[in-house]
Amino acid sequence: MIIKSIELKNFRNYEDLNIKFDSGTNILYGDNAQGKTNILESAYVSGTTKSHKGSKDKEMIRFEENESHIRTLVEKKEKQYQIDIHLKKNKAKGIAVNKIPIKKASELFGILNMVFFSPEDLNIIKNGPSERRRFLDSEICQLDKIYLSDLSNYNKILLQRNKLLKDIVFKPDLRDTLPVWDMQLVEYGKKVIKRRRQFIEQLNEIVFGIHKNISGNKEELILKYEPNIDEAFFEDELNRVKEKDLKYTQTSVGPHRDDISFFIGNIDIRKFGSQGQQRTSALSLKLSEIELVKQTINDTPVLLLDDVLSELDSNRQNFLLNSIHDIQTIITCTGLDEFVKNRFQIDKVFHVVSGKVFEKTEM
Ligand SMILES: Nc1ncnc2c1ncn2[C@@H]1O[C@H](COP(=O)(O)OP(=O)(O)OP(=O)(O)O)[C@@H](O)[C@H]1O
Ligand SMILES: [Mg+2]
Repeated sequence: MIIKSIELKNFRNYEDLNIKFDSGTNILYGDNAQGKTNILESAYVSGTTKSHKGSKDKEMIRFEENESHIRTLVEKKEKQYQIDIHLKKNKAKGIAVNKIPIKKASELFGILNMVFFSPEDLNIIKNGPSERRRFLDSEICQLDKIYLSDLSNYNKILLQRNKLLKDIVFKPDLRDTLPVWDMQLVEYGKKVIKRRRQFIEQLNEIVFGIHKNISGNKEELILKYEPNIDEAFFEDELNRVKEKDLKYTQTSVGPHRDDISFFIGNIDIRKFGSQGQQRTSALSLKLSEIELVKQTINDTPVLLLDDVLSELDSNRQNFLLNSIHDIQTIITCTGLDEFVKNRFQIDKVFHVVSGKVFEKTEM
């Protein structure tokens, strides 16, 4: 699939923009703070209803304005889609697909699939478990609506249960209601654990070969899912820790404490990997994600590369750019030197200058 165009009205630092992309490699270059990432963000919002940075709707609306509008045209094998997103300051956003309003954000899922790659992704292995869980969740959610709903139910119930644990301190009678929440927590938690395990298995089949290739046949990378508790024991364990949970007023077991580990040989590279190994493995992971999305949707996702090239040495840059020739890519960078030097195939170049975009016809 490809993004044909994006139209922005009062989105971030864009008052009015209409940008038409090529189906191959697109470069957005310009100095810092000119609006390059904002364009990728608008694409991401079109596919997922949310900012990749976790910004609130009102933060994306141009300063001094009350509303913002994103219109994205997506072309797939046979179909065209027009996605309209209306961001409002103090109200829920409006979303329409082919001019028909949709009620639930989940109805938008699957229309525009993207893989977003930013420099922070290169730190996923050395950062804390919450980042790795976020990776896990955002990837699976893109591919699986059922997981999206199970996870959101799990998180809601977890919040409620934790609130109840606090309330019980003051109103001990409330303790009788705890089993109701426990039952639901276990129900959704088991589904989340099961799907995460399956996802890691799928990813492993792809990441192994990719990493072997990047590392020049030297390294074998294996991901291991580290569930905080296996689904078969969740219920019993939750019961076992009940008194402790009541004492500390928080839920101490469950998939909200999961992690993924990364092994090269028998070395856990979260703890013992070199910086280079960690970053290369993160790159392998990201490339595997593209492949997995391709296999799952039977189409190519759009790849958004935010400033990552400058973070990679030329070997890894080559590897990345050579492995993405068949999918639409939108790349942001501050300069064009790297591309000219390495003579990569570039189809369209845009210069971004303070909320305006100029298409370059020659470099
Ligand atoms: N809601 C908003 N309204 C108007 N301008 C905004 C809004 N939010 C952010 N901006 C402006 O957008 C600009 C940042 O845009 P963006 O992050 O896309 O820059 P960039 O070109 O990617 O820069 P860098 O190379 O540093 O990553 C800043 O000048 C910022 O003030
Ligand atoms: Mg940026």
